[in-house]
Amino acid sequence: VKGKSFLAFFVGVSSLVCALPSSAQFAKPEAAVEYRQSALYLMGNHFGRIKAQLDVSKPDVDAIRASAALIEVLKTLPFEAFLPGTEDIGDTAAKPEVWTDNERFKKLAHEMQDRVSELNAAAKSGDVKAIRASFADTGKACKSCHEDFRKKR
Ligand code: HEC
Repeated sequence: VKGKSFLAFFVGVSSLVCALPSSAQFAKPEAAVEYRQSALYLMGNHFGRIKAQLDVSKPDVDAIRASAALIEVLKTLPFEAFLPGTEDIGDTAAKPEVWTDNERFKKLAHEMQDRVSELNAAAKSGDVKAIRASFADTGKACKSCHEDFRKKR
């Protein structure tokens, strides 16, 4: 009898744990990991494109504008997919601290999102000096989260 109720308890708990990430948007935890990595990959790609323009003597401001506008759209997407039950899934580079120190993680996400808005505004203005400054600030905001919340590969 004891064994049986333990089993019932275990099955109950594990189905609860599995049910969380699959709740609304994702069929399974792996899909959430793929989603956040894909969104971050795209953000990184467009961040790199802006850097490439800032590295040449005559930056293509339209190209910077297009990438900054995309990052503005993408900036909240990764954070919809750091759900409970998606730690330690697949090849995730997210540290356990994303979940154990979630308040700080969210704070750093918001800081980055604020910097991205500024970068997007600077890009719209076309002022390369202002773009350069907000690009540097945004890069720092990315880095300060990666330092504490992303595993080194
Ligand atoms: C609040 C924290 C946080 C902020 C801010 C942040 N990142 Fe990340 N980033 C992560 C975590 C955590 C991962 C690992 C995700 C995983 O593997 O599940 C990651 C992964 C990545 C990856 C690798 C994606 C892949 O292909 O697996 C790139 C690229 C990236 N981030 C770019 C950026 C850029 C660019 C910025 C700033 C504009 C940024 N990140 C801001 C936390 C953050």
